[in-house]
Amino acid sequence: MADDGLFEEPRFGVPDAPSASTLAETGPIGPTGRPLPDLPDPAPVDPGRRHATIISMTNQKGGVGKTTTTINLGAALAEHGRRVLLVDFDPQGSLSVGLGVNPHTLDVSIYNLLLTRGTDPHDVITGTTVDGLDVLPSNIDLSAAEVQLVSEVAREQTLSRVLGKLRADYDFILIDCAPSLGLLTINALTASDYVVIPLECEFFALRGVALLTDTIAKVQDRLNPDLEMLGILGTMYDGRTLHSREVLERVVQAFGDDVFHTVIRRTVKFPETTVAGEPITTYASASPGADAYRQLAREVLLRCQDR
Ligand SMILES: Nc1ncnc2c1ncn2[C@@H]1O[C@H](COP(=O)(O)OP(=O)(O)O)[C@@H](O)[C@H]1O
Ligand SMILES: [Mg+2]
Repeated sequence: MADDGLFEEPRFGVPDAPSASTLAETGPIGPTGRPLPDLPDPAPVDPGRRHATIISMTNQKGGVGKTTTTINLGAALAEHGRRVLLVDFDPQGSLSVGLGVNPHTLDVSIYNLLLTRGTDPHDVITGTTVDGLDVLPSNIDLSAAEVQLVSEVAREQTLSRVLGKLRADYDFILIDCAPSLGLLTINALTASDYVVIPLECEFFALRGVALLTDTIAKVQDRLNPDLEMLGILGTMYDGRTLHSREVLERVVQAFGDDVFHTVIRRTVKFPETTVAGEPITTYASASPGADAYRQLAREVLLRCQDR
């Protein structure tokens, strides 16, 4: 993956329209400029052999769609019969709020699992309105964990130890990271099999991504050699603007096939779901936004298949 030019202002070119013959040979071209793959129906799960795949949603920039992606990818995976645990790993507690959990009234949260010895995860895990979708909620207490973890032994592996005990109960554990590259995010990456990077299709999307990929490489080197890039997800895409299309093209130039074919369009439905406290797959089940996350779930299942 070339880092060259990521900090420069991108010099965009407009993609040539695919010719009719290309379309006939390769199938329809998706928004990322590549032919859309055939996404098969996911196989049913074998509950007896559960061993959760752990995925972190990471980008130190705020407002790029990490929380929205964690909630809705989780809900879409649950629609496929997967048991899914969402981990709110941001002291802001937005994931908890987005699933109708009030962070201010929690007796115990992910903070206690990290730092209070003897806390039972099952006392912290809460169900949601979606079948098969649970959440480990957080609140502002978690900001203290960032400081307190510093003096712990094997501080980077704390979350990994907590989640290790839950792997047999779930098919997927999705971690919603805070907008930073601090110790909490390092814990999330250390605990994960895969990382997903949501990128907003806006002008400065690629600023800071080199620092993020550098951090991922360091975690792979020193803490978690099994960590893999699952994909880069374009979010807040507006296909009507040349600008959005150009940014997406630049992202594909930089990251190639690491970019998911699925692109999440900008729609006011997403902020609405936060107020409603439920995923878009139930709030507006027939909407294009819900379908986009369903398609992403198929891509994720395909990419995780051989683990
Ligand atoms: N595809 C989208 N279209 C429109 N608004 C979105 C979209 N995805 C997320 N949002 C909104 O943008 C804001 C930031 O998204 P969020 O998922 O919280 O980002 P992050 O977790 O990276 O900070 C939220 O208000 C959310 O509802
Ligand atoms: Mg967030």
